Amino acid sequence: MIIAPSLLAADFCHLSKDIEMINESDASWIHCDVMDGVFVPNISFGFPVIKAISKLAEKPLDVHLMIVNPQNYIGQVRDCGATIMNVHQEACTHLDRTVQAIKQAGMKAAVTLNPATPVLLLEDIITELDMVLLMSVNPGFGGQKFIPNTIKKVKQLKQLIKESGSNAIIEIDGGVNADTAPMLAQAGADALVAGSAVFKHHSPKEFISYLNSL
Ligand code: DX5
Ligand code: ZN
Repeated sequence: MIIAPSLLAADFCHLSKDIEMINESDASWIHCDVMDGVFVPNISFGFPVIKAISKLAEKPLDVHLMIVNPQNYIGQVRDCGATIMNVHQEACTHLDRTVQAIKQAGMKAAVTLNPATPVLLLEDIITELDMVLLMSVNPGFGGQKFIPNTIKKVKQLKQLIKESGSNAIIEIDGGVNADTAPMLAQAGADALVAGSAVFKHHSPKEFISYLNSL
């Protein structure tokens, strides 16, 4: 299982300490949550902070943009060191154009779906995607409760990927913990984002290894 700890739950006064912990752990990626206060009712951090994170990070950056008009920032996201650029389907009027532009910029293209957005909306673009991120909470905040309907969506998405011959992998974000992670692994998730469950754990590295083993 690919594990992407979310820095949203890290200690912002000592980010370097938390990045070093992730570097030394079994995590595969570092998940960076960008919020604009418009697409979601919260504001987190932006490009200068991600650029600083990329200088210390020894793992690829998985950048999740919870912003309107993400197509306007593709060059900046690439220049601050992102490997994966996640845009919300709900934020993109011309999703195909945006996905192609992300790939042309040299990044992996991922599309994120909110909990109420059906998987089938990706039917006509799934073969173009490197990853689909299913939100298992309403985006904007860490520490929320997992929405159980996500399990059904993982199975539907797995089926869509199989039928279409797409190479996309499935990532889940929100409320991932020791109770929900095994169910997600069972349903077919390939990658898990975890914020509070990692950083509130008495041994974050141990917990990451556990998730990684699922
Ligand atoms: C929520 C963010 C998540 C968040 C997850 O809008 O996209 O990445 O950090 O936090 P937890 O794991 O605490 O639900
Ligand atoms: Zn996220």
